[in-house]
Amino acid sequence: MALYSDKVMDHFRNPRNVGVIEDANGVGEVGNAKCGDIMKIYLKIVDGIIVDVKFETFGCGSAIASSSMATEMIKGKPLSQALELTNKAVAEALDGLPAHKMHCSVLAEEAIKRAILDYYQREGIPYDEEQFRSVDCCHCEG
Ligand code: FES
Repeated sequence: MALYSDKVMDHFRNPRNVGVIEDANGVGEVGNAKCGDIMKIYLKIVDGIIVDVKFETFGCGSAIASSSMATEMIKGKPLSQALELTNKAVAEALDGLPAHKMHCSVLAEEAIKRAILDYYQREGIPYDEEQFRSVDCCHCEG
């Protein structure tokens, strides 16, 4: 059996939503200290809806596929829904990732959460710190 699903290969070869949003109002950057990969998510939020999202990922194929899929999953969605996106849901939408590559999908979940947190902080919108607890926790295994 192939190590990577067709969906992973598709999103790796043809990643959706790559780039920068110049007038983004929420930006989140996370990295994994162990592998050195970095992911940056840009959000354009209007009335609580993610009207546009782009990403830049300097990392492995699974991280690129995860960013691509995750951005597709939150585009056009309300913030409340984007905050509920888990790395597991991203991996499932990609028809699975090898166990040793699951941490790559964690970057996507965290980068999105961090970008939403950035938006709340820029706009002075009160937020529930509980929802962002994982954001400051490093998931690298080192
Ligand atoms: Fe670093 Fe995939 S190996 S994010």
